[in-house]
Amino acid sequence: MKIITVLPGDGIGPEVTASAVRVLQSVFQNSKTEVQFIEKKIGGAAIDAYGTPLPQETIDQCKRSHAILLGAVGGPKWNQQSMQLRPEQGLLGIRKAMGLFANLRPVEAFQALVDASPLKRSFVEQVDFIIVRELTGGLYFGRPSERLGPNQDRVVDTLAYSRQEIQRVVEKAFQLAMKRRRKITSIDKANVLESSRMWRELVNETSKRYPEVAVTHQLVDSAAMQLITNPSQFDVLVTENMFGDILSDEASVLTGSLGMMPSASLRADKVGLYEPAHGSAPDIAGQGKANPLATILSAALMLRYSFDMDREAKQIEAAVRDVLNQGYHTSDLQIDRPDHRTVNTTEMTDRVISAINQNET
Ligand code: NAD
Ligand code: IPM
Ligand code: MN
Repeated sequence: MKIITVLPGDGIGPEVTASAVRVLQSVFQNSKTEVQFIEKKIGGAAIDAYGTPLPQETIDQCKRSHAILLGAVGGPKWNQQSMQLRPEQGLLGIRKAMGLFANLRPVEAFQALVDASPLKRSFVEQVDFIIVRELTGGLYFGRPSERLGPNQDRVVDTLAYSRQEIQRVVEKAFQLAMKRRRKITSIDKANVLESSRMWRELVNETSKRYPEVAVTHQLVDSAAMQLITNPSQFDVLVTENMFGDILSDEASVLTGSLGMMPSASLRADKVGLYEPAHGSAPDIAGQGKANPLATILSAALMLRYSFDMDREAKQIEAAVRDVLNQGYHTSDLQIDRPDHRTVNTTEMTDRVISAINQNET
């Protein structure tokens, strides 16, 4: 029996996780796999119910699971809370508690969406890379992180890494590159930061064990520019937690919408947490407008990385491609063809599920 914990969270989180759960249910049903979905609270929803963004019960349930599906956390309702009581702390806390140090964010342009990006078609067409973002260290977790001084008029955040923390995520990137086009771009700020200089050293050290992989180092500021001006050069990008956060939202523009970018947060074994790269989108929550595809594609990554069900993962990805090719899309996207149709979250999900079932028979 496979156990999947579902953490819907806030805003559009419950809408998009409901879609992905329906897709997973139909895939598991087709492959006669027994699965149990258990829902728990995280983020603002957990603050409202338990007074904390990450209840112990949620952590315990995640630790009993083979995989976790998460929607998104946060929203204006909780923005005034003190740092420890913010929904976002729940998300950071579960990543840390589960030891999910490598966040994979694949960026691939679906042909139907090539014109949905504001960038030129010729730049977007060839895009196929994956960002490997370090997820449990760096600027997000370094201590101290606080206000200082008698008047609290100084502030400090800390970017800290151990050798081992960098090593393991870099290793993950090399392993991935070996299964792809064998190119790694390591992104840092080695002209300023000591942590980046150690990062570079470890990338170079690791590369000796992977002679087939071509390695380039790029500074994060110019990498941000190159992601837009020459995105097809990239295969595997590996970078520090906050650089990866920023660059991945930027990269999502290539796919046509933030609502298209899935992610997998992994560690050394098969347990993983799968979530869209986008947030809780308070501006469209509860309106049926959310694009569920980032979460549905995250569910495909779950099948691939946690359950060794690559065939089924590809089935989901093919179904998404088919539905987009038929001209259907949610309102965050524009498809430039006369017969295109804007659909809501539920209809998009229904269409993906029928495409899966159609391809199955
Ligand atoms: P956001 O990603 O929620 O939204 C940015 C823009 O993209 C909005 O206009 C939104 O409507 C749109 N968008 C995002 N996902 C979409 C989807 N699936 N379909 C259609 N449109 C979509 O970022 P934000 O507005 O900066 O943050 C809102 C809240 O979400 C904040 O509290 C933030 O901390 C939180 N957040 C959470 C996560 C997460 O849980 N993983 C990630 C990012 C932001
Ligand atoms: C993401 C989000 C989170 C992050 C926030 C909500 C803490 O932006 O998953 O990309 O910065 O990691
Ligand atoms: Mn982010």
